[in-house]
Amino acid sequence: MRRKLAVAAAAMAVLTLAACGGTTEPEEPATEDVAEGGDAMEGDLVVVGFSQVGAESGWRAANTKSIQDNLTKENGFDLKFSDAQQKQENQIQAIRSYIAQGVDVIAFSPVVESGWDAVLEEAKAAGIPVVLTDRAVDSQDDTLYETFIGSDFVLEGEMAGEWVSENLATEPIKVVELQGTTGSAPAIDRKEGFESATADNPNVEIIASQTGNFTRSEGKTVMEGFLQAHDDIDLVFAHNDDMGLGAIEAIEAAGLVPGEDIKIVTIDAVKDGMQALADGKINYIVECNPLLGPDLVDIINKVMAGDEVEKRIVVKDLAFDQEAAIEALPDRQY
Ligand code: AHR
Repeated sequence: MRRKLAVAAAAMAVLTLAACGGTTEPEEPATEDVAEGGDAMEGDLVVVGFSQVGAESGWRAANTKSIQDNLTKENGFDLKFSDAQQKQENQIQAIRSYIAQGVDVIAFSPVVESGWDAVLEEAKAAGIPVVLTDRAVDSQDDTLYETFIGSDFVLEGEMAGEWVSENLATEPIKVVELQGTTGSAPAIDRKEGFESATADNPNVEIIASQTGNFTRSEGKTVMEGFLQAHDDIDLVFAHNDDMGLGAIEAIEAAGLVPGEDIKIVTIDAVKDGMQALADGKINYIVECNPLLGPDLVDIINKVMAGDEVEKRIVVKDLAFDQEAAIEALPDRQY
């Protein structure tokens, strides 16, 4: 019943927006759904539109697999999946398309924090519940989404900073930072967490900070620039494993030994990162768990049943040094 109301409302919203010239989305699917009694889905499956950030990292690949492996027909879902290629405009277009199709639930991982209110209001007007996964939006109106499930990125940055402060910054160290995608929640929060955890330690000096967009290739390129500009780098703090792995390539190409001449601390703990940690090329990794699929199934089922869902669901993360990585690697799922 809730879904049928949502579909009918979606059709009305699309028609209204189209009449105002406010959307380029096709009216056809929603109009058709209403004429046929508002049923956009196959059988009793819950239709979920999921807009993914992209395929920028090993973490993202594991997250996509977890979503696709769990939102299956066998589990009662008809998943409509789109990859935004790290572009906000692609995500907004995908969400508008899901609204026009009258899906039951929209879930997405926002590429950046800002600029979502308008499209979230369109989903709300259409009666389609929205679930945020992995990354937050900075909207002041939390009625625009049902819940946000994901890690505490500030805490991840703090965990990295605390380890650095206690284990490396017992003497003065010069740090370069490879930031994630500019404007994204993990880039903003991890930076903040690392800086606040090291603020009281005068031995930590961040001498350069630049985005590597969470990719291995950009991490490598930015690190090459850092190495050309500075011959006294002690530590790389990379906002994810992939950029850290790119930095390893740049450091080795410069004739230096990663993990020894230049220490490396990263976030994610995907298999490639954990292998580099086990090999001594990375010194410490804070985990960011990408396996959100099972929890997303649970959340969507609750939302569809009209049950209460907590506004913020925090995913717990671990941290690994070399010894812990060697122990964890044989059973690592991603
Ligand atoms: O939002 C989570 C972050 O996005 C991961 O740490 C990073 O690898 C990914 O690209």
